[in-house]
Amino acid sequence: MNTLRLTCFTVLLFVVYGCQNKEKSIPSRLGIDSVFERANSQYKDLAGLLPYNKFPRSFEDNKLIARKSNDWCSGFYPGCLFYVYEKTKDSLLLLEAEKSLKVLEKEKTNKATHDLGFMMFCSFGNAYRITGNEAYKNVVKESAYSLATRFDSVVGCIRSWDFSTWNNKWEYPVIIDNMMNLEMLMWAGKEFADSTLTKIAISHADKTMQNHFRDDFSSYHVVSYDTITGAVEKKTTFQGYADESAWARGQGWGLYGFTMMYRFTKDQSYLNHAKGIANYILTHPNMPNDMVPYWDFNAPDIPTAKRDASAAAVMASAFLELKDYVNEEDALRYVESAKKMLSTLSSPEYLAEKGTNSGFLLKHSVGHFPKNSEIDTPLIYADYYFLEALLKLNNDETQ
Ligand code: GLY
Repeated sequence: MNTLRLTCFTVLLFVVYGCQNKEKSIPSRLGIDSVFERANSQYKDLAGLLPYNKFPRSFEDNKLIARKSNDWCSGFYPGCLFYVYEKTKDSLLLLEAEKSLKVLEKEKTNKATHDLGFMMFCSFGNAYRITGNEAYKNVVKESAYSLATRFDSVVGCIRSWDFSTWNNKWEYPVIIDNMMNLEMLMWAGKEFADSTLTKIAISHADKTMQNHFRDDFSSYHVVSYDTITGAVEKKTTFQGYADESAWARGQGWGLYGFTMMYRFTKDQSYLNHAKGIANYILTHPNMPNDMVPYWDFNAPDIPTAKRDASAAAVMASAFLELKDYVNEEDALRYVESAKKMLSTLSSPEYLAEKGTNSGFLLKHSVGHFPKNSEIDTPLIYADYYFLEALLKLNNDETQ
């Protein structure tokens, strides 16, 4: 009887171990397939909780924060749904994604925001890539031309915000985040063979490389320009701890942005710049061992400062592209770092239990610390770049 029990137990161990091994398990405590299954289930909950025609952004004070289509985060929800659909092929997610695109489409003519790349490329760009539906491509095209209207040829950049703050009378603010919106311009410039779009993106990236960065490759959040002379008016912060600090997500936006610019242009200066930012991030004494950064590399209360899962997700996705453009030694360093970030994010500390977190996948991001907003909450863009990074890793492993 005891021998029979032992045999059964051994067989069971083999079955369990075998199943676990079939799943790609390299980066995450849970495994890539399981994370996508979790996302699949979470987003069905989220879809059920969403107010009519709104887009999820966060979950704060026990309330789902959902905004209208003109919010800068609106494109991430359909983007997440498309990423999960791409992996799980669950048609319910495709239906929900298509439903949200119908609401979002009107923003293609929105000229009042520099975030149109986040809004329209993470959504319609992925929709076109995955479904091949030409209508989606045309939405991206119109959006790119709307974004291009915000370019000023004297300054050489796209204007970020139209607002001023109480103590900062910015004349022409440009934020590091805007590097991300260039992807839509670069893609559309190539796809529709219009060098005007490409030149705008390159001018913006060049100016940003010139003026946003310190010698150690850390970046300012906001650089404001004089529109008459095109000179820098002010270097400051809005979401970071201090003007001279390194806001963590901003370092991620820069890393991702210059890596993307190298993808399109093969301009060595963009690659060198991305590598410089990578080095800043990876050698920073305040980067925790588990590789999820504090919300600002110079937050005064480190090590008790809040972590920002969104910064780790953006960085991980960027590292998993940058590794394709560098020598073996650097590639290994970037992949190992990204895996560590993704592994931590896939642990119970960061990954929401099924049926919790109001349907978001990740916990513990920081939106706008100085404004006391979205501190230690889920953020839809943390989910988006986390899923994107996992898909990159998954595709690398299956090649
Ligand atoms: N683009 C705004 C942010 O990163 O919070």
